[in-house]
This record gives sequence, C-alpha cells and structure tokens, in this order.
Amino acid sequence: MVSYEEIKIISGTAGDPLAKKVCEELGVTLAEYDLGRFSDNEIKVQLLESVRNKDVFIINPTNPPAENLLEMIFLAEAVSGSSAGRITLVPTYLGYNRQDRKDRPRVPITSRVIAKMLSIPAVDRVLLFDLHSEPTMGFFDNHIKVDQLYGSSLSIPYIKENILSKDLVIASPDKGGGPRAEAYSKRLGLEDYVLFAKSRPKPNEIAADSIRIIGDVKGKDILFVDDMMDTGGTISADAKKAKEADAKDIYVFATHGLLSKDAVKRLDESPIKEIIITDTVSQPEGKLETKNIKITTLSVAPLLADAIKKIHRGESISSLIL
Ligand code: R5P
Repeated sequence: MVSYEEIKIISGTAGDPLAKKVCEELGVTLAEYDLGRFSDNEIKVQLLESVRNKDVFIINPTNPPAENLLEMIFLAEAVSGSSAGRITLVPTYLGYNRQDRKDRPRVPITSRVIAKMLSIPAVDRVLLFDLHSEPTMGFFDNHIKVDQLYGSSLSIPYIKENILSKDLVIASPDKGGGPRAEAYSKRLGLEDYVLFAKSRPKPNEIAADSIRIIGDVKGKDILFVDDMMDTGGTISADAKKAKEADAKDIYVFATHGLLSKDAVKRLDESPIKEIIITDTVSQPEGKLETKNIKITTLSVAPLLADAIKKIHRGESISSLIL
C-alpha cells in the first residue's frame, strides 16, 4: 500500500539549476522554501508549502562549501517534521567520497562519515550518481535503500554520435579505473583499452615523470573516462604523455566536473581537444569559457527525471543504466 502522493522536488542552493531542469522534465514546480541566515550566520530554513504525504526528492551536491551538505540535512529534517510521505536524498555529487579507507595512519574514512550523516531516520532512500568509491554504498544505515546512476548513460550515446571512430581507444587515467575503461570499450564495440599508470607521492599529487602507458596509443584518438575531474592535473599530465607517444586527438569524459582552483586554465593549456562533463556539479557563469579546448556539458536532468518517475512508481531503474 503506497502511503505517499505526488512527487515534490526540493533543491539546495547549489542543486537549484539542475533541480529546475528536472522539474521541467517532470512537469512539476520546485517546492518553495525560505533560506536565510541567523545573525551568527547559521543556516535558517522554512518550507513555504505543505509536503504532507508527498514523495519528496531533495537534490543538492554535497561537496564544499559545507553549507551544501547542511542544507540537504536541514531540508530533510524540515520535510520529515512536515509529515512527508517518503523522502529520497539525491546528492548529485557525493562530496567527501574519495577518502574511503584508512590508507595512511590517523585519517578519517570521510565517505563513511558522510553516508552516516545522510542516514537520517526519516529518510527512506538515496539516489547516488557515479560514486568515486563503490564501497560507500555499504556505509549507509540499513534502513536506507541505495540506488546509483552512472554518467555512462549520457556519455555512451554522445561518444557514439560524436567521437567514435575505428581509431578510437578508451583510456583510464589510473590503474584503478581499468574496469571502467574496459566496460566503455566493450559497450562501444572497441577491442582494447589503455591504462596510464603513475605514482602519487601524496594524494592529489602526480609524479609527472612516473607516468607509464600500458597499451598502444600511437596514431590513435584517445578518450579518457573518469568519474571526476578536480584540478585537472591528472588528465593534463596524461594528455601530454599521450601526445608525446604520438596519439592523435584527445578527448576526456568525466561525470563530475569539480574543476577546482585553476583547473579550466590548466586544461585549456593542455593538448586535449574536447572535455565532456555533466551538470551534477553546477558551474558559476563564465567558468567554462576556454580559448583552445571545447568543453561540452551533458545534462543529467532527463535521466534524473526518469529515475525519479520510476522510483515514484516503484519500478526498477536498471533500464536507465548503460
Ligand atoms: C582519481 O582516482 C580520480 O579518478 C581522478 O582521476 C582524480 O581525482 C582527478 O583529480 P585531479 O583532476 O585533481 O587530478
């Protein structure tokens, strides 16, 4: 017996542009709420419409600033205290998901901490998007049902239409991404894939002269596939190495374009031809302007809207996973 009525979409500040597109796809309006600050700058939230018995989806990435995470948690708490029928959290990019093990002494497993913070008693499920670390799915409390969507549902059709050629080879920027590169290669009907192995003296640091190409890139177009691009350091160094090894055109697909610090400038100065990202993380106006490389943004809104419809109707979402 279903105990909730129609879909209600709520977004945090950072999730707002994407949530609006999802609402357009669904033909619903974004729920209204008042978001302000107390005098000491603490966040203040009040829903301005009833969510009683509604099937509520809260959309926001949870990467820094910490307000993104807090807005999601406070909105969930407000919705829960307002007799919602069911609550699903949609952290389009799950921040703090990279630290998923104790790889050095005295470090927190932040992906577990975040999963626990989002395991609010009144929340029924989470809809995740291309996690950096799959084990995180198991860090949510038992009462939370976990679904995951993948950027490949968007990138595979785009690649087939715009990039695929007999000279294309899929590449992973690191050994850990080998299974992803292999899966892309199979889905695109390509024979093999290439790995760019490297040593990292510290997290987020690459020893540029340590990059080894496992596989053949000479005379090939290269498409790097990854879950995220942060500073763009990894992919710029790999692209340079690929060019030195006589690769032809270089393309990159990464689901989450964090593009922190001077990433866009660094990428614009790299030998990459085109970068394809999605809108799981929203970008400030003008941030993606470049002189040399093309940056294409694919919107996850239609996919998210389809998943929301299916979850609402109690249907499987596996047909949405490519
Ligand atoms: C590494 O494991 C990831 O998949 C990305 O390659 C990495 O996080 C990208 O970071 P950056 O763009 O800062 O090199």
